[in-house]
Amino acid sequence: GRVAEIVGRIVEAHRGSRGPLLPILHAVQAELGHVPPSVVPLLAERLNLSRAEVHGVVTFYRDFRAAPPGRVTVRVCRAEACQAVGGQALLEHAVASLGVERGETTPDGAVTLDEVFCLGNCALGPAVQVGDRLHGRVTPARLDALIGQCR
Ligand code: FES
Repeated sequence: GRVAEIVGRIVEAHRGSRGPLLPILHAVQAELGHVPPSVVPLLAERLNLSRAEVHGVVTFYRDFRAAPPGRVTVRVCRAEACQAVGGQALLEHAVASLGVERGETTPDGAVTLDEVFCLGNCALGPAVQVGDRLHGRVTPARLDALIGQCR
């Protein structure tokens, strides 16, 4: 199928590189938007690894998602400067108000919630990225309003 074709092409492009699993997984996600479970046995076979090894890497790194992302991704900054001004509480608020954990997507497919480590907006924390737009000094109420606009 299409996934096998894409995986084959990406593996081919990394032939000869050392420890290619991570870059291959990043390339798969860049192309498909996620790393579907069907990729695990394909990569295990082609890279001569066990399925458990590949699965372990996919699940260890939070970067990889098993399901396609929502229409909009909301990224709440968890790095130090934003933490100092309420970033953690803001993330907890987002989890509560969206009803999903970090890395998950709302059941209507509208919003994926993610954490991020610094958005380069440290002077204006807590910082949140909604889609490709950056927002500073985001309060819980403002976050709800931004999320509301996505739905
Ligand atoms: Fe949050 Fe840098 S610490 S934007």
